[in-house]
Amino acid sequence: MDPSKVDIPPLKDLTIDNITENVIAINSNNPDPRFKYILERLVVHLHDFARETRLSTQEWMAGIQFLTKTGQICTDVRQEFILLSDILGLSLLVDSIDHPKPPNSTEGTVLGPFHTHEAEVLSHGDLMSHDENGDPLLVLCTVRDVQGRPIEGVKIDIWETDSSGKYDVQHPDRDGPDGRCILKSDAEGVFWFKAIVPVPYPIPHDGPVGQLLKKLGRHPMRPSHMHFMFEKEGFDHLITALYLKNDPYETSDAVFGVKNSLIVELSKVSADQAAKYGVKEGSALMTYDFVLVTEQGSADLRAQNSRKALEKLGRRVKIVKGLPVPDVD
Ligand code: BEZ
Ligand code: FE
Repeated sequence: MDPSKVDIPPLKDLTIDNITENVIAINSNNPDPRFKYILERLVVHLHDFARETRLSTQEWMAGIQFLTKTGQICTDVRQEFILLSDILGLSLLVDSIDHPKPPNSTEGTVLGPFHTHEAEVLSHGDLMSHDENGDPLLVLCTVRDVQGRPIEGVKIDIWETDSSGKYDVQHPDRDGPDGRCILKSDAEGVFWFKAIVPVPYPIPHDGPVGQLLKKLGRHPMRPSHMHFMFEKEGFDHLITALYLKNDPYETSDAVFGVKNSLIVELSKVSADQAAKYGVKEGSALMTYDFVLVTEQGSADLRAQNSRKALEKLGRRVKIVKGLPVPDVD
């Protein structure tokens, strides 16, 4: 279709009050209903933002320069836009919308930029961090479905920093992966491994996002945590983390990832456990029972939540391929 021949109202004499409907009109020949809906709402909210703040040209130029710098610092191993999304709470918000969890299942949280595809597949009981300065930690976990049945053969990706608060990829001179591993749950849904006690650390803050945090009077710290990612066909992909109780940054995480249900209190390895798992009595112990939702369960809940949320806004929608679009028929 020739875009100059499409039937749209003439765009002239645009004003503060009519420019939004005109931009929506000129975009309205988009044949993809979901993309059309997203662009329409983006334009409405961007224009409302400018009208409501009475945005000055100088301020918008500062915004454009900030976004330019954010793009310029990105490399294969540095994703500043994800960091920006994280510190604005958008990553957590999108994950919560896209992966809703029923009350009896494990909640998700931010992925962050430090997951890699180079972790070694380890066996239960193996050591995943070789940092001798870290405090030894025994981790005993299970993974079940919402009915409480163990799930066998779940691929679990786990990653944490070393005792200095750096991921392996943040050391330019590293020999290979460390502080990360892949395990598979056994027939009882159990997986266990040896690690180090997580420590708080700053997100990368030597770029535009760090400067923004400083301007906002915010620190760049994340509370002590260990990341977990669960994959098994038929189950919703779960990206989550466990946070240590009473961490100084528990209530001011730079990326808003902490949830009450993901906070764990470390205990001490008993004499029996020390003998059974081959670790020192009295060393730190972390236990957690993860619960996965089925793919169908998650899709149904996402559709139900979408309908309810948009009904509240007075919008008639239908769900197409799991996502809402305006119901115009
Ligand atoms: C992380 O936990 O690895 C992380 C999350 C968001 C931004 C930076 C780091
Ligand atoms: Fe992290």
